[in-house]
Amino acid sequence: MACSGSSILLFFVFLFLHPSLLLSLPIQDSFLQCLSQNSELSFPFSTILYTPKNSSYTTILQSSAQNPRFTTPSLPKPEFIFTPLQESHIQAAVICSKQLGIHLRVLSGGHDYEGLSYVSEIEKPFIVVNLANLRSISVDIDDSSAWVEVGATNGELYYRIAEKSKTHGFPAGLCTTIGIGGHITGGAYGYLMRKYGLAADNVIDARIVDVHGRVLDRKAMGKDLFWAIRGGGGGSFGIITAWKVKLVPVPSTVTVFQITKTLEQGAIKILNRWQQVADKLNEDLFIRVTLQLAGARNGGKRTVSTTYISLFLGDAKRLLRVMQDSFPELGLTRQDCIETSWINSVLFVAGYSNDTTPEFLLERKNIYKGYFKAKSDYAKEPIPETILEGLWERLLEEERPNIALTPYGGMMSKISENQTPFPHRKGTLFMIRYMTSWDHPSKNDAKHLDWIRNVYEYMKPYVQPRTAYVNYRDLDLGMNKKTNTSFKEASVWGTKYFKDNFRRLGLVKTKVDPDNFFRHEQSIPPLPFSMRN
Ligand SMILES: Cc1cc2nc3c(=O)[nH]c(=O)nc-3n(C[C@H](O)[C@H](O)[C@H](O)COP(=O)(O)OP(=O)(O)OC[C@H]3O[C@@H](n4cnc5c(N)ncnc54)[C@H](O)[C@@H]3O)c2cc1C
Ligand SMILES: *[C@@H]1O[C@H](CO)[C@@H](O)[C@H](O)[C@H]1NC(C)=O
Ligand SMILES: *[C@@H]1O[C@H](CO)[C@@H](O)[C@H](O)[C@H]1NC(C)=O
Ligand SMILES: *[C@@H]1O[C@H](CO)[C@@H](O)[C@H](O)[C@H]1NC(C)=O
Repeated sequence: MACSGSSILLFFVFLFLHPSLLLSLPIQDSFLQCLSQNSELSFPFSTILYTPKNSSYTTILQSSAQNPRFTTPSLPKPEFIFTPLQESHIQAAVICSKQLGIHLRVLSGGHDYEGLSYVSEIEKPFIVVNLANLRSISVDIDDSSAWVEVGATNGELYYRIAEKSKTHGFPAGLCTTIGIGGHITGGAYGYLMRKYGLAADNVIDARIVDVHGRVLDRKAMGKDLFWAIRGGGGGSFGIITAWKVKLVPVPSTVTVFQITKTLEQGAIKILNRWQQVADKLNEDLFIRVTLQLAGARNGGKRTVSTTYISLFLGDAKRLLRVMQDSFPELGLTRQDCIETSWINSVLFVAGYSNDTTPEFLLERKNIYKGYFKAKSDYAKEPIPETILEGLWERLLEEERPNIALTPYGGMMSKISENQTPFPHRKGTLFMIRYMTSWDHPSKNDAKHLDWIRNVYEYMKPYVQPRTAYVNYRDLDLGMNKKTNTSFKEASVWGTKYFKDNFRRLGLVKTKVDPDNFFRHEQSIPPLPFSMRN
């Protein structure tokens, strides 16, 4: 009796005092207990923690996951989803996950192409810290800046800017439901990039919760970490809670257009011309092209169409002059041109119907959600015409392919390769994003994956040396298989995303998170001891 009595006593002592024994409780209970021990105010943390037993668990998981391919029943699910309401909750979550040895994933907008923010296929158990509730935005027009919390979407940021000024904008992504948190960590490009660079190029401050649970701003985090978070990819260095961004000037009237050309209308010749001029156009002009199938759905003949969607920072009259001088082959007419405000151009290039009002951006609704796989390349010289023809044939073999060509040049060429970790600058003509999407998960998934991998293989000789965009995460490039992946192995994919900046990212990682607490299939690993100097 005495023996068991003392062991019970010992048990309780350990339960409250010894972190390692908290693990003998269900993971969410030890986590909750730790949170309350590490929080100054008593907060009912159980109201912001969802386990599979809570009825909203599935809704939260599925509504935040932008690629349903990674929420199918056979894949691992988070032990629980923690939804902080303020920065201090994130600090406590980091401290407690570390203390309890829980593997943590962080999610802002859930758009990760490989679902890394909400599924771990390499480590179990894991939890998700979902930052969707942290989404206040404060815009300061006099200062041309804004603080935006990471759970806000880029669309919400655009709306809040436009609400205060018709002549300010921000150069981030074209899809308007991306979480600004993950987005900026990888660079973030959109229709203003040739004029103003990436969102990451326009960050002036940030707040990050580091591995010790401290909140650091630009000054406190230091030059190296501030460099690394602006393009080095999410989930490697800490949890960013807010970005301070610089707003950019936009004219009160901008012009947009969309022109489609099919094969029969000379699409290949025109696309070939686009390849020659797109990166050299006037910086006020941005013309992106997508290649997709047309005709099939209405029972017509299946063909490939090329769609040119453009934003011009000026009026239609000047645009027509610029086009006449530099790209007359597209045949732009005054009737094609729509003069509008910058915020409406955001809705236009995102592909929403023309009766959509800016308020739609506040609904955070992704109307394009579907099963997909994508990959990226950077073209440093034009793709030969015969290869474009071969690409055409391949597009016709797939149900719903989409290839987007995004022009570089302009401001993108003026920023040096090591200014931020994002290295695709001078010498890049355009980025290629291959994508295929489908409606239902099925045994056919493999067919779609094979298709895109074959196209990628086909393009290989024409995009050398091969590189990729980290925000278009692609695990085919390689991945960390375990906690302790070697830096050398990781360099295979790391140098594709970051070129020579990968090593500096490793140095920063070694300094700020040497034990690799913040990790996932493609996080930056710390350098081995032999490479630390
Ligand atoms: C439909 C669609 C359209 C897109 N359009 C564009 C586009 O126009 N331009 C463009 O540049 N990109 C685009 N992307 C890619 C997009 O920028 C990346 O997927 C981006 O990482 C998404 O950020 P998120 O917060 O929504 O994603 P999440 O999945 O939440 O996060 C992405 C990664 O960042 C990490 N992370 C998330 N939040 C934080 C944080 N607060 N601190 C540290 N790490 C964090 C995650 O762990 C994960 O590894 C698009 C993606 C999709 C699915
Ligand atoms: C989840 O369920 C538990 C147990 O019923 C409850 O205590 C908790 O408050 C629920 N969490 C949320 C966020 O509703
Ligand atoms: C929207 O598009 C339709 C069809 O293209 C056109 O008839 C209509 O005038 C447009 N509406 C606005 C508000 O531009
Ligand atoms: C990580 O790898 C190094 C060298 O390969 C080894 O010495 C170390 O024990 C490993 N650590 C873990 C936690 O596996």
